[in-house]
Amino acid sequence: MRWRPVLAGSGAGTYTGRNRTWKAMKAAYITQTGTPDLITYRDLPTPKPTRRQCLIKVAAVDVNPIDVYIRSGAIPAKLTFPFILGRDLAGTVVEVGASVKDFKTGDRVWATSQGSDGRPGTFAEFAAVDKRWVHRIPEGVSDEDIVALSLTGVTAQLGLVRNANLKTGEVLFVNGGTGGVGACVVQMAKILGARVVATAGTDEKVAACRDLGADLAVNYKTQDVAGAIKGFAPDGVNVWWETLREPDFDRAIGLLAMRGRMIVMAGRDAHPPFPVGPFYVKDCSLHGFAMFNASAREQRSAANAINRWVAEGKLRARIDRVLPLSQAAEAHRLQEQSTIHQTGVLAGKLVLKP
Ligand SMILES: NC(=O)c1ccc[n+]([C@@H]2O[C@H](COP(=O)([O-])OP(=O)(O)OC[C@H]3O[C@@H](n4cnc5c(N)ncnc54)[C@H](OP(=O)(O)O)[C@@H]3O)[C@@H](O)[C@H]2O)c1
Repeated sequence: MRWRPVLAGSGAGTYTGRNRTWKAMKAAYITQTGTPDLITYRDLPTPKPTRRQCLIKVAAVDVNPIDVYIRSGAIPAKLTFPFILGRDLAGTVVEVGASVKDFKTGDRVWATSQGSDGRPGTFAEFAAVDKRWVHRIPEGVSDEDIVALSLTGVTAQLGLVRNANLKTGEVLFVNGGTGGVGACVVQMAKILGARVVATAGTDEKVAACRDLGADLAVNYKTQDVAGAIKGFAPDGVNVWWETLREPDFDRAIGLLAMRGRMIVMAGRDAHPPFPVGPFYVKDCSLHGFAMFNASAREQRSAANAINRWVAEGKLRARIDRVLPLSQAAEAHRLQEQSTIHQTGVLAGKLVLKP
């Protein structure tokens, strides 16, 4: 449902307006774009599920860089205020609409791709989510772990399988092997049988890259990354996954193998130079994508792979810390410092609990 910001007679845990009554729930929302301190954590009406929706009692959400861009206004988005922040959630179904047959009350589920295209976000005690975005949580997997693997995991799986068509035995390079996306790319590339090179900005994170499965991990601040890649893969890199918002195409394309594929998925305002000659004479290809353009069917296929791998213990979440949802503003400050200002203060995902 869309929020109706004009509400009359709120109080005693309920809201009334337009002949309807809503129970109150806590939510982290904005009424205009701007700095993190504009995030309010207060009561809003609990949504009622439509025919196609599951009402989910939220147990955990996480923060992604896209949340920062939307909240700050860096990405112009059509928002309905009050706008509840957040893309991902994990929780329990408490009510289903009449046409929902695959889920029932009590099911533990996760979802991503909320908070866009008119859908409210997830930073709340309850969220009503269309059934096509809802996935089961495998038994034994925690809400915190699955939510920390949701948007980033879908992104990594789509990029590696649908876009790059990564094959067993190929060499994959990823910049930022412990970042939200990077940690999923490293683990999934290993699951898919690749040989993996990753970078990180501290020795602790370099060790963490190895722990995630990287065959070679390089400190991008203190080591010669290009030299290390050449030593590891003399014939070049088959898939180069760039997480940086300002890709260095000269370096990446120079290190790509024949028929190498490069993934770009960040840097809306970036206009870096591009070496056309070195690119085409090696039959290389460039794949740009945004996970939120993927259809619900494509996302379900990625979600199924994530569920399988996490249940098998092959895919692990990296969580920096878990905070109460009331600290959503602080979480946004941390994510902004870490990703946008490139301080790297985070060593894993930020998870919040209502
Ligand atoms: N297109 C899509 O569908 C999609 C989906 C998800 C995310 N994204 C975008 O992808 C980007 C990454 O997202 P994320 O969630 O992974 O962010 P993140 O968790 O903040 O990770 C950023 C990574 O970049 C690394 N890094 C920073 N400066 C570096 C440098 N100079 N050289 C090499 N690595 C460097 C960091 O390494 P250290 O921490 O070791 O310094 C960190 O691993 C963001 O811009 C995000 O908006 C796009």
